Amino acid sequence: MSLKQRLPLLRWSFIRMGIGAWHFAKTGQWGDGREAAAADYVVANARQGDLDDVLATIDKFAYEKSFLINVGDEKGALLDAAVRRAETQLALELGTYCGYGAMRIARAAPAARVFSVEFSRANAEIARRIWAHAGVADRVTCVVGTIGDGGKTLDALTQSGFAPAGLDLVFLDHDKNAYLPDLHSILDRGWLHAGSIVVADNVKLPGAPKYLAYMREHQGTVWNTTEHKTHAEYQTLLPDLVLESEYLGG
Ligand SMILES: C[S@@+](CC[C@H](N)C(=O)[O-])C[C@H]1O[C@@H](n2cnc3c(N)ncnc32)[C@H](O)[C@@H]1O
Repeated sequence: MSLKQRLPLLRWSFIRMGIGAWHFAKTGQWGDGREAAAADYVVANARQGDLDDVLATIDKFAYEKSFLINVGDEKGALLDAAVRRAETQLALELGTYCGYGAMRIARAAPAARVFSVEFSRANAEIARRIWAHAGVADRVTCVVGTIGDGGKTLDALTQSGFAPAGLDLVFLDHDKNAYLPDLHSILDRGWLHAGSIVVADNVKLPGAPKYLAYMREHQGTVWNTTEHKTHAEYQTLLPDLVLESEYLGG
């Protein structure tokens, strides 16, 4: 890995995210077209129908062209392991972005159906384009909305087959302040079962302190959590924390 790849502060596309923060909060994109450019790059460079190649091509884009906020290769390996440990048949991701995380879940669980909730319609379209190129569009679905939208998205998921004790894996990777309320909404629907696993990204950076405190408070009673010390995506300077929490039921 080159010095530029290890140190994000040497990359304009990383610094540019500071300028685009307001735009990102409103639209889910950084405002310089990098998300659409990533989809164009995948279609132009990755072998059609080759999920491994599509994921590797997105990683290459994020390292060499423009920084992306996918879960990335290092934390992605933790996600892959959790997906396998949960013996995932049905997965729910919150925060689709360009569709990378959902594809990692689909690759680690080749028979699973994967649903991903994203508030930005533009991001949903980009992810769907990439999923079609990767050949997973038949089992990876984006639902445009939020878990906190008054029941609309939760009801859409129910209509898609979400049922009590039917959800094996949840990947929280959206609004950090929504991790805890959205997890409670999922619990209220009864979708989790003993042994379901919830993976939460970015618990240290940018941080989800209330979620971390909740998991620590309920350690050994409702949840069994492993705290994975790792790095924020696509560099090795900034530390991050991924939580992998097994639901104990009750
Ligand atoms: C870090 S990115 C997700 C990356 C993706 N999980 C991956 O690994 O490829 C966060 C995404 O969450 C979306 N988002 C933010 N708040 C949301 C919410 N409340 N519900 C759904 N999506 C949300 C943003 O638009 C953005 O696309």
